[in-house]
Amino acid sequence: MTAKDYSTVVHERRSVRKYDSSYKLDRALLDEILEEATLAPSSRNLQPWRFIVIQDQELKKKIRSCAYNQEPLETASAVIAIIADCEMYHNALKIYRSKFDQGLMDEVTMQRQIDGIEQLVPHTSFATRLNIATFDCGLVSMQIMLGAKARGLDTVPIGGFDHEQVTEALDLDATRYEPILLLPIGKAEQPGFETTRLPLSDIVDYR
Ligand SMILES: Cc1cc2nc3c(=O)[nH]c(=O)nc-3n(C[C@H](O)[C@H](O)[C@H](O)COP(=O)(O)O)c2cc1C
Repeated sequence: MTAKDYSTVVHERRSVRKYDSSYKLDRALLDEILEEATLAPSSRNLQPWRFIVIQDQELKKKIRSCAYNQEPLETASAVIAIIADCEMYHNALKIYRSKFDQGLMDEVTMQRQIDGIEQLVPHTSFATRLNIATFDCGLVSMQIMLGAKARGLDTVPIGGFDHEQVTEALDLDATRYEPILLLPIGKAEQPGFETTRLPLSDIVDYR
């Protein structure tokens, strides 16, 4: 994608709240969007995101009921629940070994990285790990939204939901996982509202 294509996608993305509920989303397309999105950066590359892709109509309805009855959760083709894995350190071995196996890292460095993670991350508080994972989930979520838009699909990030109810509805282990965002994805039936942004003069301080 050229810089201009990227800019067009960013400018055209809006939060869409009216979906064509008859539109069926191909799993291969969802996989493509998710795989590309996971190129997002993450703290120590631990990739603390998990995705539950909900297409079952009954489960979508249930999730809607956990989120102040927000319509897109039922009418969009799918809802991607973005879940933080607060025990992301379990992935260290697999992630760094694959980097070593692909010749991208020597063995000593691999072991040093794994040891560094295992000696530190599990001993930080749950709140610290959740904070890290939430940030990383935000990065991957943005990439999903832009990847969807680039392919003619729309999304709306939904953070207004009852976390306990969603945890229960998705049968998550609350000692490890926390739902961060619900992301309806599908074909727009109506465009999203135009929105505005603060001027740079309000938010940027060059020093
Ligand atoms: C973390 C987060 C949570 C949000 N939660 C909701 C929500 O619960 N319901 C909703 O309709 N929109 C929600 N939004 C969408 C925002 O209202 C929207 O992004 C904002 O108004 C700017 O509009 P735009 O996305 O069309 O540019 C959320 C956005 C973010 C980033």
